[in-house]
Amino acid sequence: MRKNIVAGNWKMNKTLQEGTALARDLQTALHGKTLQCEVVICTPFIHLTSVAGVIAGSKVQLGAQNCADHVSGAYTGEVSAAMVASTGAQYVILGHSERRAYYGETNAILKEKVKLALENNLTPIFCIGEVLGEREAGTHFEIVKSQIEEALFGLPEDDFHKIVLAYEPVWAIGTGKTATPAQAQEMHAFIRRTIIDKYGDGIANDTSILYGGSANADNAKELFSNPDVDGGLIGGASLSVEKFLPIVEAF
Ligand code: PGA
Repeated sequence: MRKNIVAGNWKMNKTLQEGTALARDLQTALHGKTLQCEVVICTPFIHLTSVAGVIAGSKVQLGAQNCADHVSGAYTGEVSAAMVASTGAQYVILGHSERRAYYGETNAILKEKVKLALENNLTPIFCIGEVLGEREAGTHFEIVKSQIEEALFGLPEDDFHKIVLAYEPVWAIGTGKTATPAQAQEMHAFIRRTIIDKYGDGIANDTSILYGGSANADNAKELFSNPDVDGGLIGGASLSVEKFLPIVEAF
């Protein structure tokens, strides 16, 4: 069954103390509520272990924002998928546009990261999306399709089945410029058709496709009401309970 998911991407924000306090406040705010979605927070690496302790037994799940493309060894400064999993995290964001743009992550590198995440029982939240020039040139469908094909379509069915996708038009990230609900639905439906062509209806209909890019309390309900939008990957608005809670409750 396809899951609704609201995942916070804290990016490079919050000290350890601020992050554990936010996690504690969030789990307190959600306590006793009946939710229509899974709630995930994706924190910086150094927060994972502490936040895992804070949210243990609560409705909040934990994810990292990246992992290495190697198993282990002499890769100074890197953090492996096994290390992420050993903190208790269940999710890992992979292929975020900021990683692609600033750290040179290619579809080929991401393919390795996805493989290692899955081997360590982490659920990848795999990000795809076009930049503004590509949308203006009308190549956005092609770009998104190639990101999925090159990084994910080598996976056997059983493994693809474990992937969560996040469509994040790069021009909407952190800009306050959200895709319209119609633009989001159009692309999400295209992504689902692309998956149908490769893996069939069953797997495609089970795949959660999240929207990301300036999603907030005011637009979440309308975005999530689209049949192919199964939740959100939330950056700026995940940094306070006040802004994040209404998005979780938009389902
Ligand atoms: P934003 O970020 O919500 O701040 O636009 C979303 C993301 O990059 O995941």
